[in-house]
Amino acid sequence: MTRVAVVTGGTRGIGHAISIALKNKGYRVAANYAGNDAAAQQFQVETGIPVYKWNVGDYDACAKGVAEITKALGPIDVLVNNAGITRDAMLHKMTPEQWREVISVDLDSVFNMSRLVIDSMRARSFGRIINISSINGRKGQMGQTNYSAAKAGMHGFTKALAFEGAAKGITVNTIAPGYINTEMVAAVPKEVLESKILPQIPVGRLGTVEEIARAVAFLAADEAGFITGACLDVNGGHYIAV
Ligand code: CAA
Repeated sequence: MTRVAVVTGGTRGIGHAISIALKNKGYRVAANYAGNDAAAQQFQVETGIPVYKWNVGDYDACAKGVAEITKALGPIDVLVNNAGITRDAMLHKMTPEQWREVISVDLDSVFNMSRLVIDSMRARSFGRIINISSINGRKGQMGQTNYSAAKAGMHGFTKALAFEGAAKGITVNTIAPGYINTEMVAAVPKEVLESKILPQIPVGRLGTVEEIARAVAFLAADEAGFITGACLDVNGGHYIAV
């Protein structure tokens, strides 16, 4: 059976690698994106993966997107909630807009998308929901009260929904990437990255997008049915949790 996977924020960064990894594993993949049409078109041409544009922070837009994908590819078996943004600022400089944007795209989206696929997953007694959180939702990070709150919120959501889905063949897990070589990390001031962040990574380098995609493919597999409510840290030893 060919399973259908949706990757939010699936045309750039970590999502780009996740979409490709799932396609290579035989999934029918749909990649959502929000803004960068040029990158999305290039991605579609290069990978053959169809792209769908909507804002994952908007419930009604998600409903339309999920309906469109379901019609084109079939019911969604694997949902990867990957879309995320940063609006870094110390709290004493953070605007309400910076707070709301991050909570909307990084956390409301997880409710929106999961809510819209859960009925169909329950009806078919199978589902995989994989939430791409962050090391900074685990350990906190200066300049990221908004992002750390959203990413920590994902962990609570994951654990609660894991209970709800367990008897229905639906697993729900988070992956918490560390600092990965993406545009998002490239936006961190160079001096901060080199003097404060890199020295804290025992493996001694940034992670690659493929290293996260590999973890997603692992959790998405039919054979991963006994892993639920878990958080998989992929961070080069930067944060080692018990
Ligand atoms: N770790 C340790 N110290 C940090 C730091 C970090 N990540 N980021 C900033 N600092 C320190 C600065 O070096 C500075 O220290 P000094 O006063 O001793 O010089 C102090 O915090 C204040 O910083 P700034 O003077 O730069 O203050 P600012 O208001 O101009 O900017 C900031 C503050 C927004 C936090 C900015 O420094 C910044 O963007 N830092 C990076 C934050 C970060 O790590 N974001 C992660 C983005 S990647 C991501 O989110 C993906 C993921 O999931 C991992």
